[in-house]
Amino acid sequence: MKIGIVGLGYVGLPLAVSFCEAGHEVIGVDVEARVVDALSRGESHIEDVPGHALAAVADRFEATTRYADLAQVDAVIVAVPTPLTQNREPDLQPLIAAGTSLAGVLQEGQLVVLESTTYPGTTRERLVPMLEESGLAADRDFFVAFSPERVDPGRTDHTLRTTPKVVGALTPESLQKAVELYELVCDNIVTVSTPEAAELTKLLENVFRSVNIALVNELAILCDRMGVDIWEVVDAAATKPYGFMSFKPGPGMGGHCLPVDPFYLAWRAREFDQPTEFIELAGEVNQRMPYFCVEKIGRALNNHSKPIKGSRIAVVGVSYKAGVGDIRESPGLKIIRLLRDQGGDVVYNDDFVPELTDFALASQPLDEVLEGADCVVIVTAHPGLDVERIVASAPLVVDFRGVTRGIEASNLVRL
Ligand SMILES: NC(=O)c1ccc[n+]([C@@H]2O[C@H](COP(=O)([O-])OP(=O)(O)OC[C@H]3O[C@@H](n4cnc5c(N)ncnc54)[C@H](O)[C@@H]3O)[C@@H](O)[C@H]2O)c1
Repeated sequence: MKIGIVGLGYVGLPLAVSFCEAGHEVIGVDVEARVVDALSRGESHIEDVPGHALAAVADRFEATTRYADLAQVDAVIVAVPTPLTQNREPDLQPLIAAGTSLAGVLQEGQLVVLESTTYPGTTRERLVPMLEESGLAADRDFFVAFSPERVDPGRTDHTLRTTPKVVGALTPESLQKAVELYELVCDNIVTVSTPEAAELTKLLENVFRSVNIALVNELAILCDRMGVDIWEVVDAAATKPYGFMSFKPGPGMGGHCLPVDPFYLAWRAREFDQPTEFIELAGEVNQRMPYFCVEKIGRALNNHSKPIKGSRIAVVGVSYKAGVGDIRESPGLKIIRLLRDQGGDVVYNDDFVPELTDFALASQPLDEVLEGADCVVIVTAHPGLDVERIVASAPLVVDFRGVTRGIEASNLVRL
């Protein structure tokens, strides 16, 4: 098959490579000429897609900024961002731009699948009307489905092939076409009756994580007051063989999905006079975590007779999770901003994030940030981080990821 992928980011690029690896041709369209140029040179900007994987499929993969090239494909998968506006409402601009461009090149018989995470109703009420501007009719001239992406950047134990793929479509014929498409790269397809059910499935998965992380974060704050070790409690609870799932506390939620997606559902729910209080409360608790972290850093410094103001604070790991360089919504950025607001002299180390232009900061080698630091704050622990060396050489270490568990030291403070 010939497949078009719109949006070559964390979702679109691995998907493109998977279809190529399965022997199919892919035309990837992205509005960022910089991304397209780099991919055309064989350079990947996504950690999960190494350069050698791109090179191996170079004869079947073409990156372009031209939507017109999509006229030749059998199916188009749309994986553009679905961010929030300043007021934390759904921002469908990238999707509207993609849908409008796609309508200009849509061909009879093509299948269009939306993979961007969004509120229930987007595919039917927003995408289909845009595509019908082409003059073609959905489910007569072209086919439409929604299939949420479940990629977890940095994860290798579950792949696109082994992770069940949920698909919902407007009609059985569209559903069948979408199933045939995904069977090329996935072993297990799970069909649901409508695109709305598929859209809401993705939101349920992410809200589930958000709510559970908020719960354990709230307990972490309580444990801090009570002098109980939250990590020990979570690990002990996890020994229960049924009815409990382990979620780890941390400095707050980041990335494109968890801090954003619940707001898509909450926004849509308001239209139905049904507030989603649980979901919004979880968002609030998680957003509060960086503030709590900075308070904890302040207390730790105070115990060493130092204020935040003027102290040299080395932040280790600024991306939102281990093993990736994605800084979108990262709590590490919030922590840096809050520390700076209080006069902290912040430096950072993160091999995945060479610079933070908003702060005019560049990542420094671990040795350099350790030197002269009054306090080292572990915000994200990338694989291979030498935690023992940090504890051995820094006067004060604050660990928000629990990676220092097992080390007993008087200069160590944990969430
Ligand atoms: N990153 C994840 O872990 C993840 C997981 C599951 C689902 N999702 C969802 O998938 C969608 C994409 O997320 P992502 O992380 O891949 O985003 P991303 O920012 O990494 O990639 C999106 C790409 O789309 C391009 N783009 C924007 N507007 C475009 C347009 N009109 N036409 C063509 N290209 C356009 C951007 O330049 C960018 O390269 C979002 O809805 C997200 O919520 C993301």
